[in-house]
Amino acid sequence: MSRQGASPAKPGRLVVLRGGPSNTRVTGRVVLVGAGPGDPELLTIKALKALQAADVIVHDGLVSPEILDLASSAARRIDVAKRKSRHTLPQDEINRLLVALAQEGLSVVRLKGGDPFIFGRGGEELEACRAAGVECAVIPGVTAALAAGASAGAPLTHRGAAQAVTFVTGHAAHGEPDLDWAALARPNHTVVIYMGLSTAGVIADRLTGAGRSAATPALVVVNASRADEQRIVTTLGQLPAVAAGLAGPALLMVGEAMALAAAGASEIVQPLLSSRSVGA
Ligand SMILES: C[S@@+](CC[C@H](N)C(=O)[O-])C[C@H]1O[C@@H](n2cnc3c(N)ncnc32)[C@H](O)[C@@H]1O
Repeated sequence: MSRQGASPAKPGRLVVLRGGPSNTRVTGRVVLVGAGPGDPELLTIKALKALQAADVIVHDGLVSPEILDLASSAARRIDVAKRKSRHTLPQDEINRLLVALAQEGLSVVRLKGGDPFIFGRGGEELEACRAAGVECAVIPGVTAALAAGASAGAPLTHRGAAQAVTFVTGHAAHGEPDLDWAALARPNHTVVIYMGLSTAGVIADRLTGAGRSAATPALVVVNASRADEQRIVTTLGQLPAVAAGLAGPALLMVGEAMALAAAGASEIVQPLLSSRSVGA
């Protein structure tokens, strides 16, 4: 028998009844989407489709407005901007928000700068969804290091100059980051430091203290892939002085292969010869 107000069932057709007891409510899902480093053209097609299909977009501060503009205008946008010293929403509240939105039956995109699993706390959000029984998928994004190396013409690995690349965080909640400095100081190895502007002095001291030459080429890229990108070619020894004059999301990149940056991008200047930075 059909529900009151619904058309009578035709023989052989499946009738789907809306409503019903709350324990049959359809749960939505969460998709952790990598927005890339800022340039909307570095968004993946899969990420774009997810944005256009979302009911709600929960985003952080590193996502550029041009990328948010690509989402459906009907989608609700929630800014949970996370900055090192200004957490709009603590991580556990973001986790709870994602779960609650999905439990309302919504299709939730959690949009994060770069890649969700590279210093993006995507793993914590994934675990929270799993613990709550909420379906969670991940769409990778271009992490900032890849964009920075590409625009500077500095390969992160390079035959004869960089047999390995390591991504590390320069930020630690208390004190200096707990890193294996001896391993990072090995030659022919690119070290990319995320969130390292404020700890550049400690990082340079630890790397040189562990044996990495102060003359090792280094590259700093601020706002990689964005219109206001800045790139500075320098050395490990000069890194603290360079970093002191900069602000904004930045990567410190140290390694022999960073010497290629100067050849690959003529607009790069030596900071101690003229201004500290140059727009792309
Ligand atoms: C919380 S981490 C997020 C990293 C991000 N998940 C990724 O994969 O790029 C934030 C740090 O990433 C780096 N970063 C992110 N976007 C950047 C950009 N466009 N240019 C330079 N550095 C960037 C900076 O070191 C910034 O402090």
